[in-house]
Amino acid sequence: MRSHPTLDLLSTTDDRDLGRRFAPSGQTQRMMVASQPASPPTRPIPTQTSGSARVVYEDDGIEATVETGRATLLEVSRMHKVPHVRECGGRGRCTTCRVDVLDGLGNLTERTEREVKLAAARGWGPNVRLACQACPLGDVRVRRSVRTPADVSLLQTETLKEDPGREVEVAILSCDLKGFTAFADTHLPFDVVHVLNRVFASLGDSILLNNGVIYQYAGDQVIGLFGVDGTGTAQEHCMQAVRAGLGMIDLLGDLNASLSGEFGVQIDLRIGAHIGKLVVGYLGHPSRRVFSAIGDAMNVTCRVEAANKEVGTRFLVTRSLFRHLVAKVETGRRAVVHLKGKRNPHPLVEVRRFVHPDADFLVQTTAQALLGVQSRFADVFYRRLFEAAPPARAMFGDDIEAQKKMLAQALHLAVYGLSRYEQVAPGLLDLGRRHTGYGVTAAHYEVFLDIFVASAHEVLGARFTPEIEQAWLAVLRRITDAMQGKAD
Ligand code: HEM
Ligand code: FES
Repeated sequence: MRSHPTLDLLSTTDDRDLGRRFAPSGQTQRMMVASQPASPPTRPIPTQTSGSARVVYEDDGIEATVETGRATLLEVSRMHKVPHVRECGGRGRCTTCRVDVLDGLGNLTERTEREVKLAAARGWGPNVRLACQACPLGDVRVRRSVRTPADVSLLQTETLKEDPGREVEVAILSCDLKGFTAFADTHLPFDVVHVLNRVFASLGDSILLNNGVIYQYAGDQVIGLFGVDGTGTAQEHCMQAVRAGLGMIDLLGDLNASLSGEFGVQIDLRIGAHIGKLVVGYLGHPSRRVFSAIGDAMNVTCRVEAANKEVGTRFLVTRSLFRHLVAKVETGRRAVVHLKGKRNPHPLVEVRRFVHPDADFLVQTTAQALLGVQSRFADVFYRRLFEAAPPARAMFGDDIEAQKKMLAQALHLAVYGLSRYEQVAPGLLDLGRRHTGYGVTAAHYEVFLDIFVASAHEVLGARFTPEIEQAWLAVLRRITDAMQGKAD
């Protein structure tokens, strides 16, 4: 562990100034309201003429009062600690800040030029607005549309709405639960669905953490696609697919420990990966088009996954995918199999692990453990921070619980964003600029890294090995550098 040479920096006179600056000002009103069940807009909220407007965040249980026309909805969220995703930092480029306006649509400023273009291209209804582009002029009730990494990942497919169908080269990963049918046959349907959902949530995370799109769950199989939006290189997509597959295998130990205790079941996985062309687009009845990916490469992947049975392996990839990974992964068995319906035999390679520890992989696999206990982690983090530097407490205003949620969400999204750094970098720069405005200095970021590492040790114990610590430090350094505008 690193020493903490800079901890005393947080108790300088500057920080006492900061403390005053960030003490609750009383200028903005924040009130928690009981969460209400989602309901369709029934009656419009009357327009206020008084110069103040109410913004109600449906599902978040937060109501904000703001001066009309002075702040965008996204700024209102920040002022009232609503955990609002904003990957591009409010530039109108990423669409992650979008909201559904449930009431008071006429009480927002007109769509900006950028919004008009995006709305036309993506087929948004009039009630979809970008929070970074819309200012409340009167009362509104909104719901954040992008709340989880899965929502962010789906945005990749939305760009395809402009096309009738596009052929793209994607890396495809198919994972099947081995022996699950026997469990399904001997347990209550409710238990089967419960276990499947838990397992799929974990497996799906491995796909999302690597910038993949969860294409489908079919029975006990999950399919992930990497590179759907046509950005990035084939090599990146193959690495992402393999990192996701190895991440799934890494999760098995923890999953089986809890499943065997609760249900007496152990699962195993069969994973196949391939790279090839698919036609992607929206198919179906005009009133219900769904994202679809069609092509021979999909069938090949499923058959590669099934071939694990005959080869006696867990993770097989085709040679076309493997050639993008040479020297990066340790291989095991090699086999030539005749895939059903294919005239030519397919050479397959077993993937076992990375040759050198891959920092993104180490962070991803522990992120799931760390972010799985994010509220405990945030408790430990802020306790340590305020113990080490009591004056820092005053910097954070009076609602420290909301601040914990904000930090946890920011870190969560930053880790999810690692595999598409270019998209999240502008948002991090913007976050850093705001931090400069809060009075945060380079020295504070150093303290942050130390406290983070110490907190991770406290929460994860021996699991947070020196190798993993180094990987986290590299990632956090990347995030804090991006916040400070240092070139990557
Ligand atoms: C990886 C590094 C960090 C991340 C991801 C992060 C994230 C956040 C987020 C998401 C907010 C909410 C407000 C906003 O979006 O502007 C926030 C607020 C804040 N952060 Fe950070 N932060 C980091 C490091 C730091 C450090 C090193 C300090 C200084 C000790 C700091 C002090 C503050 C303060 C004073 C606020 C405003 C609190 C308030 O409005 O009550 N942050 N941070
Ligand atoms: S479009 Fe609003 S934050 Fe990116």
